[in-house]
Amino acid sequence: MYERFAHEYAIHAEDSPYNAFYDRPAVLGLAGDVSGLAVFDAACGPGLYAAELLNRGARVTGCDVSPTFVELALARTEGRADLRVHDLSEPLTWIPGGSCDLAVLALALHYFDDRVALLSELRRILTPRGALVLSTEHPTMGWVRLGGSYFREEAVEESLSPERDWPIRAWRRPLTSICAEFREAGFLIDELLEPRPVPEMAERYPEDHAHLEVLPAFIAFRLIPAPRP
Ligand SMILES: C[S@@+](CC[C@H](N)C(=O)[O-])C[C@H]1O[C@@H](n2cnc3c(N)ncnc32)[C@H](O)[C@@H]1O
Repeated sequence: MYERFAHEYAIHAEDSPYNAFYDRPAVLGLAGDVSGLAVFDAACGPGLYAAELLNRGARVTGCDVSPTFVELALARTEGRADLRVHDLSEPLTWIPGGSCDLAVLALALHYFDDRVALLSELRRILTPRGALVLSTEHPTMGWVRLGGSYFREEAVEESLSPERDWPIRAWRRPLTSICAEFREAGFLIDELLEPRPVPEMAERYPEDHAHLEVLPAFIAFRLIPAPRP
């Protein structure tokens, strides 16, 4: 999906209001102190998270389905992270069960048809005291943009950005369904965050800041493995 516009997106995400001043501070905040942790960056994109996690002292492995993104991520992390091309619809066969302290899945869950299978696989690779931190589109944002019933569950084809021809296909679904999938995959919600834009955004991107102060674009979670019955 992203392969066709991977280079443009990589430049955009470095400094964009929604990525640099909103999503990354929220998700990295939920991740907490990662020093010394084994972190799996699922759907790593151009490596902006991987680089930050490394800088904060984590050991990072990860993957993305886009070869261009993985190339960019490897260059950004200068060989310090083990990143590879992999479709997350398939199992992470090279990652042993219970080997990761933290998994990060930023802004990608909504692209998967079988989200429970992906979440279950991420649960498998976590240690019993591990956590999955993820962000996804806030269901209210999708409803305001797309209209119709808030409760509709469907895959929608549109452009990632109204100003650009960046075609994507992503799921809209209500909060109840998002949380039910976490539970089905064996996770409990440790923390739910409706992020607020960081204060620096007000100066750099005043319009986006004002918008995000009244309507959340993304929602983020810290999930922990539910005890096995
Ligand atoms: C919005 S980007 C987020 C990238 C990165 N997590 C970040 O926040 O900077 C969504 C990412 O999901 C990846 N993705 C989508 N479908 C995927 C799949 N089936 N397997 C692996 N990665 C996938 C895309 O290639 C893209 O890198």
